[in-house]
Amino acid sequence: MTTPSDVPPANPDWFTTGHKHIWMPYTQMKSSPLPQAVKSTEGVRIRLEDGRELIDGIASWWSACHGYNHPHIVDAITRQAKTMPHVMLAGLSNEPAFTLAARLAAMTPGDLNRVFFSESGSVSVEIAMKMAVQFWINQGHKNRNRFIAFKNGYHGDTIGTMGVGDPDNIMHGPFHGLMAQQLVVDLPANETDRTAFEALAAEHAGTLAGIIMEPLVQGAGGMIFHATETVKFIRDVCDRHGILLILDEIMVGLGRLGTTFACEQADVTPDLMTLSKSLTGGTMPLAATIATDRIFEAFYADELERCLMHGPTYMGNALACAAANASLDLFETEPRLDQVQAMAAQMIDALAPCRDIAGVMDVRVWGGIGVIELETLGDMYWIRDQFIAKGCWVRPFGNVIYLMPAFNIDPADLTTLTDAVVEITAMWSEKRGEWA
Ligand SMILES: Cc1ncc(COP(=O)(O)O)c(C=O)c1O
Repeated sequence: MTTPSDVPPANPDWFTTGHKHIWMPYTQMKSSPLPQAVKSTEGVRIRLEDGRELIDGIASWWSACHGYNHPHIVDAITRQAKTMPHVMLAGLSNEPAFTLAARLAAMTPGDLNRVFFSESGSVSVEIAMKMAVQFWINQGHKNRNRFIAFKNGYHGDTIGTMGVGDPDNIMHGPFHGLMAQQLVVDLPANETDRTAFEALAAEHAGTLAGIIMEPLVQGAGGMIFHATETVKFIRDVCDRHGILLILDEIMVGLGRLGTTFACEQADVTPDLMTLSKSLTGGTMPLAATIATDRIFEAFYADELERCLMHGPTYMGNALACAAANASLDLFETEPRLDQVQAMAAQMIDALAPCRDIAGVMDVRVWGGIGVIELETLGDMYWIRDQFIAKGCWVRPFGNVIYLMPAFNIDPADLTTLTDAVVEITAMWSEKRGEWA
């Protein structure tokens, strides 16, 4: 494995030609360093065009949960591509989508029995929000179209989902005027907050469609953990005031916290659940909005206008659904949840030395998420470069350095990642005065 950071990035033709035309995500195109040119992937490794290899510490935005190129998923996609990559899902059907719907209905808690597919997490949240609003419209409540959401929450970058995310973050703040004004409040963490939260829910119940939250871990808002009791309390508030609960399990669902779904740990079933990311094991874009029988029944009627008027072109894409079915097979045939528990135990020990480093505010691990919270990040590109120099792909943001690798990462590769985190956090600590 070659890892020195002083190897100049190779610039293959596709890179130099395309970089003049592509617009990269969350990137100041003028000043950000060039992206790494990736040639191939395998297991937890990203191979660069210049021959270097990086161990992926964040599983391509938390999606590649079985590692890259898992042969079972690759075979399923290849077979599906040869028979039928896609047919529209209006008036036509396909076996992978129908099979996947039945499997998800069987896996999810309670009577979350109806699955509506889309192509991205953000869109699945938008669909959940539309379902919640129309659930009330179909029952004669035309004004129940607002949501309670939480500070530090993140549900996507589309206009609807920005409205239920943290209004003050760098990504969404500038669009304040464009977004629907929702009630975005602190997660109620103690008795006083809970009393205030209950009062807010009671006051607005007549205009609320639902409450939306990421259960147990707020991801893009800073990898912030909260107690299972908080999720349970919010479910109870919803029940007491007749409000729907949407749980966004896009990041935490499908094993990341050591259980199939995060809401299981709180013993809560939402009215609507969203899934994406690990759903196809990081291979194809696919998301699902899953509704309980009660929600579905409000749409089940003789009148056309009571149906859900929504249908993305690629919904139920056969290739993506075949990949998802193969990914679910792997959860059944390989010990993924045990691997997450083992990864958690290893990270708890290996990241503990960071607690003694000046400037570290917190070190926390939950399942396959390991977080070092810093007083402030400083130069995130400098930190990223240090990881690359050590043969690791880690992408700090906000004020956190975090790991979220594939569930089946080899313990030795995880050690490479955790050692790098400890060493680079110490280097960051020495340097942090320069960025103050
Ligand atoms: C909890 C949560 N919801 C929604 C999204 C948006 O998903 P996508 O990027 O697929 O639109 C994300 C993405 O990070 C997420 O973490």
